[in-house]
Amino acid sequence: MSTYTWLEAILFPQVRINEQRLLQHLSGKTIIITGASSGIGEALAVRLSNMPVHLILIARREQKLIELKNSIAAKGKAKVSVYAADLRQADEMEALLLWLEAVPGGIDIIVSNAGKSIKRSIFASLDRYHDFTRTMAINYLAPVQLMLALIPVLEEKKGQIINVSTINMLLQPFPHWSAYLASKSAFDQWLRAAAPELRARDVKVTTFYLPLVRTPMIEPTASYKSMPAMSPEHVAAHISKAMYTHKRAFKPWWLWPAEWLSFFK
Ligand SMILES: NC(=O)c1ccc[n+]([C@@H]2O[C@H](COP(=O)([O-])OP(=O)(O)OC[C@H]3O[C@@H](n4cnc5c(N)ncnc54)[C@H](OP(=O)(O)O)[C@@H]3O)[C@@H](O)[C@H]2O)c1
Repeated sequence: MSTYTWLEAILFPQVRINEQRLLQHLSGKTIIITGASSGIGEALAVRLSNMPVHLILIARREQKLIELKNSIAAKGKAKVSVYAADLRQADEMEALLLWLEAVPGGIDIIVSNAGKSIKRSIFASLDRYHDFTRTMAINYLAPVQLMLALIPVLEEKKGQIINVSTINMLLQPFPHWSAYLASKSAFDQWLRAAAPELRARDVKVTTFYLPLVRTPMIEPTASYKSMPAMSPEHVAAHISKAMYTHKRAFKPWWLWPAEWLSFFK
């Protein structure tokens, strides 16, 4: 885990994981991670690589996925399958869904993590409608399509959906983030509306309302370099813990002052 500053250590306290419980709970399970080629998804795959699980890693960059698969395979514990697809492309998504249907034993957990962020003023976006269609395609429509296809098997396996979302869903909206926040909100609302029905049929639903995380996603925003951020490995540890606690939401402990402060931004 990367070294935190004193402020980060306070904001992001360590997580205790009962490795035995995690092992018992995950043994033999099949786990999909979308967006596994970098950042949080990659860190989660590495975190689970010592478990006797079948990891299905999905993203566009096949070479990155293959390198990750090879490094996990070298440990000799987890089975890894990789599937390279652009989840915004209808034909690639359809082929993926067909492939997933044929996975022996079905799917137990899906971590919906693939995503794209855009920071741009609305006045710089007037001729960029594609920013909105692209973010909706990957942050909303792709996970909805995946879930619709997987809900039957998740119901059968009493599985779990884990959504990697942002703390901004719980704060006042920030200017310059309209494309990203609208698309993340759409899926957050979709899942919140579906969750009671899913839980009634024994499908667990967990949403991670994450603060800033030090991944390639935040690199283009210069001001984030000096801001406190969680490490992707730390997030991965929390996600793995949620796989046996089945907690419904992860929110930073300092959410309430952040909510209050977001009124004055
Ligand atoms: N970093 C933060 O501060 C932060 C905070 C809150 C929430 N989040 C959420 O965390 C999730 C993971 O982000 P990250 O920070 O780990 O960023 P990241 O390192 O940029 O990872 C994004 C992942 O999504 C995949 N992806 C993007 N577009 C895709 C597409 N069209 N089809 C398939 N895969 C696609 C990328 O793989 P390819 O490029 O290989 O396709 C990559 O593996 C996102 O949903 C993000 O909204 C991040």
